[in-house]
Amino acid sequence: MTGKITPAELKTLFLFEALSDDQLSWLAERGTVQSYPAGATVFAEGTTATEFYVLLSGALALSRRVQQDDVETIRTDQRGVYMGATQAYLRDDPGVPRTYLATMRAISESQFFVLSAADFATIVREWFPMAMHLLEGLFFGMIKSHMMVSERQRLAALGSLTSGLMHELNNPAAAMVRATAALRERVAGMRHKLAMLADGRIEAEQLRALTHVVEPIIERAAKAPELTPVQAADLEDDLTDWLDRHDVAAAWDLAPIFAAGGLDRECLDEVATTVGPGLLDQALRWIGYSLETEQLMTDIEDAGTRISTLVAAAKQYSQADRASHQWIDVHEGLKSTLVMLTHKIGDRIRVVKEFDRALPQIPAHPAELNQVWTNLIDNAIYAMDGAGTLTIRTALDGDRVLVDIGDTGPGIPPELRQRVFEPFFTTKPVGAGTGIGLDISYRIVVNRHGGDISLTSQPGDTHFQVRLPITEPPSV
Ligand SMILES: Nc1ncnc2c1ncn2[C@@H]1O[C@H](COP(=O)(O)OP(=O)(O)OP(=O)(O)O)[C@@H](O)[C@H]1O
Ligand SMILES: [Mg+2]
Repeated sequence: MTGKITPAELKTLFLFEALSDDQLSWLAERGTVQSYPAGATVFAEGTTATEFYVLLSGALALSRRVQQDDVETIRTDQRGVYMGATQAYLRDDPGVPRTYLATMRAISESQFFVLSAADFATIVREWFPMAMHLLEGLFFGMIKSHMMVSERQRLAALGSLTSGLMHELNNPAAAMVRATAALRERVAGMRHKLAMLADGRIEAEQLRALTHVVEPIIERAAKAPELTPVQAADLEDDLTDWLDRHDVAAAWDLAPIFAAGGLDRECLDEVATTVGPGLLDQALRWIGYSLETEQLMTDIEDAGTRISTLVAAAKQYSQADRASHQWIDVHEGLKSTLVMLTHKIGDRIRVVKEFDRALPQIPAHPAELNQVWTNLIDNAIYAMDGAGTLTIRTALDGDRVLVDIGDTGPGIPPELRQRVFEPFFTTKPVGAGTGIGLDISYRIVVNRHGGDISLTSQPGDTHFQVRLPITEPPSV
């Protein structure tokens, strides 16, 4: 049902109270009054925004669709509130939505003053040119600063991850260089011994016997159990004793190597009987070299493996070689994020992984989810100030996958719980945080994945819970 409104009635609406009589007449002329019965949908989210509405009487509710659910955002019966094509006056720009941002329903029988989007744009542009510029500046400025900040945050996060990763890579790389240098020295020593053998100073028979004892010793060393420092010291003393009694030079040098290799008295006795006293000294040195080179090679292998693991994690984290949207196992991203953050986690934070291995794969943008895990884990680490327990739990929750990140930090006071998701909200000192981590995470989880993110918190027990749908949402 449509009708007309008088200029005098329009003047009673706060939006129009300062307009001149001419302007009011113009509005009354161009606009209409529309009535809707209770329950009627006035406009639907996502359709082209063609009208601007002002509530005259009745009550309305605005709602937005979040996945399958309609979430009511506003319910009001305040006369004069306006909605609909509220951004019609903004210049054409891909960043400006030209559709209704929410669905409006009449809660009770309601009347609206309705203007076309074009008329509304005209009055704002022509009657309030300066205000229009200010509003436009505000709107585009906000979009731009938001984009710049997100970009910066991504770069800053990447920067801190890169430096952490470099640090992580540096340890095994340095260990490798050290081990290789030591290995070179030992191999040179062995070549030297070989020259002595070639000189014929050692009989072929003894040489054969020596190679026979060395092999089992190397094998035994590879399986030697890790000794406690006390056990190692005892064994070393014992071996030094034995070596001294057999007049072996450099006993102090060899004893720790033998002890680390798990050799004992009986073993040395066996060597002594095999090679005879004349060659004992040489034989033991040879064994020492063999054990050391073996150990050094193991060290190099370990360091190399560590480097490959880190590079694999970095690759997985950045999703360098995968398409942007696909079916993924959330654990892969969680694990690689943890590896990337090893440096920040340190050794006073205990990491507990309670992974439900039976979780189904979910449709997702993996690199973006990694950004979410990074932000949540980063916040948890910061909250625990270096020490505590970080718990990462996954589970199936209805038709959603739940990822719960818990920390034992001081928690978030109730009055701040809503605010933490706001852009630029931070309690960190200047320079330590931009306050955008959770805002970005929220947008990735809710807008990009149709999931949700919530939190529970009390001192010593804070959890951020991310729920992601296991079926493809229609809009992704
Ligand atoms: N696990 C947590 N424990 C306690 N407080 C938290 C936790 N996670 C977030 N917060 C609070 O929420 C605020 C906002 O977090 P958000 O990640 O958005 O920004 P930030 O960490 O301050 O900065 P950054 O942009 O670097 O992430 C934090 O400053 C902190 O006060
Ligand atoms: Mg943060």
